[in-house]
Amino acid sequence: MIEESHLKWVSLLIAVYLTVPLLGYILIPYLLYGNRSTKKRVILYVLGDIGHSPRMCYHALSFSEHGWQVEFCGYVEDALPRSIVEDPNITVHAIPTYRGRNGSKLLSMVRKVALQIFAITRQLWELRGSDYLLMQNPPTIPILPLAMLYRFTGCKLIIDWHNLGYSILQMKFGGSFWHPIIVIHYIVERLFAKFATYNLTVTKAMKNYLVNSFGLSSKRIAVLYDRPAAQFQPLPETCDRDRMLKTESFIKDLLPSDFDIKKGDKLIVTSTSFTADEDIGVLLGALKIYENSYEKFDQELPRIMCFITGKGPLKQKYVDQVMAYEWHRCKVEFLWLSAEDYPKLLRLCDYGVSLHTSSSGLDLPMKILDMLGSGLPVIASNYPVLDELLQHNVNGLKFIDRRELHESLIFAVKDSEIYKTLRKGALIEAENRWNSSWESAIGELKIIQ
Ligand SMILES: *[C@@H]1O[C@H](CO)[C@@H](O)[C@H](O)[C@H]1NC(C)=O
Ligand SMILES: *[C@@H]1O[C@H](CO)[C@@H](O)[C@H](O)[C@H]1NC(C)=O
Ligand SMILES: *[C@@H]1O[C@H](CO)[C@@H](O)[C@H](O)[C@H]1NC(C)=O
Ligand SMILES: *[C@@H]1O[C@H](CO)[C@@H](O)[C@H](O)[C@H]1NC(C)=O
Repeated sequence: MIEESHLKWVSLLIAVYLTVPLLGYILIPYLLYGNRSTKKRVILYVLGDIGHSPRMCYHALSFSEHGWQVEFCGYVEDALPRSIVEDPNITVHAIPTYRGRNGSKLLSMVRKVALQIFAITRQLWELRGSDYLLMQNPPTIPILPLAMLYRFTGCKLIIDWHNLGYSILQMKFGGSFWHPIIVIHYIVERLFAKFATYNLTVTKAMKNYLVNSFGLSSKRIAVLYDRPAAQFQPLPETCDRDRMLKTESFIKDLLPSDFDIKKGDKLIVTSTSFTADEDIGVLLGALKIYENSYEKFDQELPRIMCFITGKGPLKQKYVDQVMAYEWHRCKVEFLWLSAEDYPKLLRLCDYGVSLHTSSSGLDLPMKILDMLGSGLPVIASNYPVLDELLQHNVNGLKFIDRRELHESLIFAVKDSEIYKTLRKGALIEAENRWNSSWESAIGELKIIQ
């Protein structure tokens, strides 16, 4: 006969027995995996505008192409690239934007970070159970510490090092390292960097820096160079460039009426976001010296049509500068082109110009890649790592100030042999594409087979 107290125990056991599958199959998976499917899933996290993060977009497309489910988190300010929207394997999760209010800079920064922490935590929670979290650094705060905590859900962390967050901030704050925000930033970056399962860097120089200064292990860092996107292609030999210049709607009204590429006139292009680290004044200065050379020494110098694309805080200042000068041989136009027209413009030009100087000296400017991808030799403001991409007299020319830029311009536009050589170099570089470098770098880390 079963006593009453035994009965209680037995029913308790039965209850526990019944709850185990409930816990095991429903609750715990719910907590750990959320609503993931059977596909491999990767979260891409960028604390920036998705439309302006080409490298993260390529990551997304590449993962998708390999059959992964991609959760793409970032700000959605400008229009998203169509390839991302149309890809069924990619879901975009917008981070709510924070509207700055008047008040102290520090206070608004703290408020912004607090809101970001809240938004990121919520998003990561909804996406729990993913296999990988790939984040771009910088921005570092607050995403890196959160990503580190997120590893406890079993998600592996990949940091894609575009640059060093603290060195960018340092530039914003006028160069001193000892501002408290910068020091905090440096400590966070250095400390939490250790928690990544995998590291990717944009240059060898960046890899060496991480190994030597942050003490990361060199074996487990892969260099993944940026590459131009598929839409940046050289103009096919068979195309009639002259006719296209006269018919493409975004450009035909901008060229001076007597401008003639058959007589050797040249088109140059630079793109910029008009920030303090890109001095468009150097280019304008060089063009003014060019005007001077034309007036005083050499009436044979070709005409130069110079396009400056982009927008940003210092734009008006340069627009005014251009208006105030009387141009004879050069014409400068400021443009803001759609994502479709920009590659078209590039491939119609003769040379690209880059005024980018890197805050850490460890990254390469995307625009040079797009120019080379379009088959344009690039005249670039020099800094050490640039050698990893651009070699003087092979696929471009380098300069350090406006005089040298002016000399390079004269060389570049007058001497057709130089153009041929550089163009050949650029076309070779143009064949180097994202797909194959992505596969080899991600394969090296054994994330894909
Ligand atoms: C989406 O993933 C599937 C595999 O699940 C793959 O076959 C397909 O090519 C991917 N789609 C795109 C647009 O890459
Ligand atoms: C912030 O201050 C500026 C002037 O300092 C003012 O024009 C603007 O309306 C203020 N914005 C808000 C949201 O209070
Ligand atoms: C990234 O760096 C951390 C810190 O040294 C290291 O533990 C991890 O193994 C590295 N991963 C790769 C893939 O380099
Ligand atoms: C990568 O290669 C595939 C075909 O192999 C192509 O469909 C895709 O557009 C390429 N992606 C990029 C970003 O070039």
